[in-house]
Amino acid sequence: MKLCLLVAVLLVTVTLVSCGNVSYDGRSLIIDGQRKLLISASIHYPRSVPAMWPGLVQTAKEGGVDVIETYVFWNGHELSPGNYYFGGRFDLVKFAKTVQQAGMFLILRIGPFVAAEWNFGGVPVWLHYVPGTVFRTYNQPFMYHMQKFTTYIVNLMKQEKLFASQGGPIILAQIENEYGYYENFYKEDGKKYALWAAKMAVSQNTGVPWIMCQQWDAPDPVIDTCNSFYCDQFKPTSPNRPKIWTENWPGWFKTFGGRDPHRPAEDVAFSVARFFQKGGSVHNYYMYHGGTNFGRTAGGPFITTSYDYDAPIDEYGLPRFPKWGHLKELHRAIKLCEHVLLNGKPVNVSLGPFVEADVYTDSSGACAAFISNSDDKNDRTVEFRNTSYSLPAWSVSILPDCKNVVFNTAKVNSQTNVVAMIPGSLQQSNKGVNSLIWDIVKEKPGIWGTADFVKNGFVDLINTTKDTTDYLWHTTSIFVGENEEFLKKGSKPVLLIESTGHALHAFVNQEYQGTGTGNGTHSPFTFKNPISLRAGKNEIALLCLTVGLQTAGPFYDFVGAGLTSVKIKGLNNGTIDLSSYAWTYKIGVQGEHLKLYQGDGLSNVNWTSTSEPPKMQPLTWYKTIVDAPPGDEPIGLDMLHMGKGLAWLNGEEIGRYWPRKSEFKSEDCVKECDYRGKFNPDKCDTGCGEPTQRWYHVPRSWFKPSGNVLVLFEEKGGEPDKIRFVRRKISGACALVSEDYPSVGLLSQGEDKVQNIKNIPFARLTCPSNTHISAVKFASFGTPSGACGSFLKGDCHDPISSTVVEKVYLFAIFCIAFGGLFSTKYLLIFSFSKLTTQLRDTLMLSASD
Ligand code: GAL
Repeated sequence: MKLCLLVAVLLVTVTLVSCGNVSYDGRSLIIDGQRKLLISASIHYPRSVPAMWPGLVQTAKEGGVDVIETYVFWNGHELSPGNYYFGGRFDLVKFAKTVQQAGMFLILRIGPFVAAEWNFGGVPVWLHYVPGTVFRTYNQPFMYHMQKFTTYIVNLMKQEKLFASQGGPIILAQIENEYGYYENFYKEDGKKYALWAAKMAVSQNTGVPWIMCQQWDAPDPVIDTCNSFYCDQFKPTSPNRPKIWTENWPGWFKTFGGRDPHRPAEDVAFSVARFFQKGGSVHNYYMYHGGTNFGRTAGGPFITTSYDYDAPIDEYGLPRFPKWGHLKELHRAIKLCEHVLLNGKPVNVSLGPFVEADVYTDSSGACAAFISNSDDKNDRTVEFRNTSYSLPAWSVSILPDCKNVVFNTAKVNSQTNVVAMIPGSLQQSNKGVNSLIWDIVKEKPGIWGTADFVKNGFVDLINTTKDTTDYLWHTTSIFVGENEEFLKKGSKPVLLIESTGHALHAFVNQEYQGTGTGNGTHSPFTFKNPISLRAGKNEIALLCLTVGLQTAGPFYDFVGAGLTSVKIKGLNNGTIDLSSYAWTYKIGVQGEHLKLYQGDGLSNVNWTSTSEPPKMQPLTWYKTIVDAPPGDEPIGLDMLHMGKGLAWLNGEEIGRYWPRKSEFKSEDCVKECDYRGKFNPDKCDTGCGEPTQRWYHVPRSWFKPSGNVLVLFEEKGGEPDKIRFVRRKISGACALVSEDYPSVGLLSQGEDKVQNIKNIPFARLTCPSNTHISAVKFASFGTPSGACGSFLKGDCHDPISSTVVEKVYLFAIFCIAFGGLFSTKYLLIFSFSKLTTQLRDTLMLSASD
């Protein structure tokens, strides 16, 4: 038995990337005369806050990433024609410089149409109302504004010397986004537009190549690139262009009422390894950090405020294990092959059904091989160069010397973390939870102030609000005679509404009657609810809503939303149709207009103070003053007991909240996900029957130590006394060591000096900053099962497992014995406590016979 311990301290060095011209050929990008094999990671700057950027970029770098990739978000920058904004989360230059300071490259996807689950696909809503504009086709107003914005961004980057040709980090720029799918819908104008966009981009003279994704007719020198869950089979349309994967989706986005998609780390790794096996040279994770759709930036209908994406870095900025760790090891394995992959010649060798090796050799005799088993069911054992290799189903083994497997995509060697949302309370300085005071203001249901207009029939929501707000009031009235049967019977007529989007709250005589919602698509939805009518005049007030605008699709700029029919059934005359009645309209709710969530606006009304805020009250503004939650963990707001609405902290927009339950049945979700076989976003979902989004990220940097103003606008009713802050905390970590999980050759710098752990399986546990291992919660040498946080012992559990691990821990010596009659695994779970030093504690467990 061999023992060892290694404590490694991470040293962060700052290197500025400085590059000359970026060129390319059919194999790769060539930067500063050197071929590059690049791992890139999408992090969208407005989906986090500047205070998070350095940490996110650094976590990507530690994860083995070379390049950060972002879209540019036009509608966040050009607020009205010629009126530009680059402050706060939209400080693009600052973001680019953060990447540069980390010594990384940047891919700038200017678009400026971007899709991205971002409101209106990133194009400003005002542009839709410039007369004659049709988006994304050979249309003069669109092209004029697109060129103007593109030029503005390019000039800004040039001014700051951010292009690689100027010594900056930007190595590639993108124009348009996946237009190839839509080109034909616009007939000849589609093709003309695509070519114009390419030419316009090239004429910007950035000194770096341009890319167009999913654009099969991209003209030289523009490079067409691939977006998909798998791009190993992709070939650029010209052999002189390198194979670039702009979007590998390591998870997927969510919609309110939908499920929670997860893509297994093994499958993500498989797709990446296959891409490099098959000659790929630039690979980007979309998203590596998804982040948050703050405010009303989420697209629609119904994209959630969280854009977590099941990405390698979670919404709150923490590395997601094991995905982040598994991909880090993958990147290291790929990088070990970089030189020979880029400079060698590939030979493809079939090793049997579904199994093939791609072997790269160069003139110096260097050799690297990727052996893949694409069978989605069967593990295989194959002979390669007189050695036998076992490959799990749907996996790739990487052999940087054509002999030793340093990584297999299906063998997850990385630690897993237990991450919990630890509830705290909303608390005021020195006052305790129970004395939290809420200030309340109620909106009057219906028209407030002066009506905007009166019209017979309905209007389109988006054309009317121009997306300045989610809300549009529609009111009308009906007269109910005293002889109506329902009044005598004490029954209720039924309000029947049809709408194309996206949701509505119905009020009769200022009483809330119910809410109707679509399913997150553009299919019309129906609202059907008994309502309370009285004899005489009755006011019907409908608060119709959009929940994020369409983000893509042919002519998506013309997709509307709104009522198509309103009827009342169950009157003496049968059903009355109110659709062509005179409706009075008002855009927005009054509190928005008065800016009750921000600055001076806070004092624009007389709030009523109470320590017992009223429950289930529709159309209510709540305000309270809170302390920052203790600690330094990321913070969320638990809105489980609220209805639907908007939230702000200190005037910063947290975003839409809506803990809407997923209507999917449990059979539409999985308990365990089989990573084998092609992934699609419906394959490994969780969250059926649960609220799609319970927690809402509130960046720490938005808090002052005390005196923070939290404001909510609740549309339909909730229980504000149950709102809690939660802290996202890593409370434990797990690692698995077994004979089947070698990670030979993937030791960190310095670790390989520890001779006795070479060529033996080991697990490495890294604790969050300022923490160390405080207790061993579970250890089993045997056949344990389950997931991190809920492991179960198997039949052949060795009872001394915990004692052994604890002892070795106490002596700061770790050992794990291997061997035995069974297929054995050793699972370890540790919990953390505070460290007094700033060091990161890296502990390595080694195992040997
Ligand atoms: C792609 C698109 C991205 C994003 C992604 C899904 O088709 O280019 O912007 O929308 O789908 O997350």
